[in-house]
Amino acid sequence: MRKNIVAGNWKMNTTLDEGVELANEINAKVKETAHNCDVIICVPFTHLTSVNAMIEPDVVALGAENCSEHDKGAYTGEVSAAMVKSTGATHVILGHSERRQYFGENNEQLLAKTRQALANGLTPIFCVGEVLEDRENGSYNDVVQAQVEALFQLSKEDFEKLIIAYEPVWAIGTGKTATAEQAQDMHAHIRKVIAEKYGKETADSTSILYGGSCKPENARELFSKPDVDGGLIGGAALKADSFLGIIEAFN
Ligand code: 13P
Repeated sequence: MRKNIVAGNWKMNTTLDEGVELANEINAKVKETAHNCDVIICVPFTHLTSVNAMIEPDVVALGAENCSEHDKGAYTGEVSAAMVKSTGATHVILGHSERRQYFGENNEQLLAKTRQALANGLTPIFCVGEVLEDRENGSYNDVVQAQVEALFQLSKEDFEKLIIAYEPVWAIGTGKTATAEQAQDMHAHIRKVIAEKYGKETADSTSILYGGSCKPENARELFSKPDVDGGLIGGAALKADSFLGIIEAFN
C-alpha cells in the first residue's frame, strides 16, 4: 500500500565531478540489482542538473536538500522550488534537523516551504526528530508530534503527497542508531497522530522513513519493523556500495 523508500542525503559533500561520478555508479548498481524499494538521491543544488542528466528517472529519482519558502524575487542566495523543479528533480528534503538547528528554520517557515514544494509538483521529504535532551527527559513523542502537527494546515490531499522522515538528532552522524524498537515506537506514534487528523487510510499510505546512522549492518532490522518504510541515509549514501547494501536490506 505505501512505498518502501531508500533516500540518500548527500548534505554538503562531493564536488560536482565527484557527485556526478557517484550518481552514475549508484544508477548503474541499482539498475543491475534486484530491489524492492524506490531509490532517491538528494544532492546539493549545484549538482542537480548534471546528476539529472546522469541518472534514469525510473531507476533513481532526484531530490534537492532544501528550497526557499518564497516564490521568487529579491532573496539573494536562495533557491526556489520552481528552480529545483526546473532541473528535473522530483523531491526535496525539508525541515532537516541541520536546517532547524544551524539555520533557525521554524515550523511556520517549514509549512511555507512545504506549500512551495507542493505547488511546484515536488514531493517533500519532511524531517522530524527530537534532540538528546528530549529523549532523555521523556518529551520526545510530544516534540515530534508538534513538528508533524505544524503541517496540519495542509489539506488531506496535499498531506498525502508527503514522505515523512523520523531522524532523532542524537543518532545523526554519531554512529548511535536508534534501536529498531525505538524507531518502530516513534513511527507508530507519528502514524497515529496522522490518523487522528487525516484518517487511517492517509496514515497507512504515508511512507515514514528512519534516518540516523543507518548502515547496511542495521538496515535490515530497522526495515523489518511494520511502521518503518525505509531510510533517509547520510554518511552511508556517499559510497555506492554501502548505499546499495541498505537498498538490498529490503530484499
Ligand atoms: P547519517 O546517516 O550520516 O547519520 O545522517 C542521517 C541524516 O541526517 C540523513 O538526512
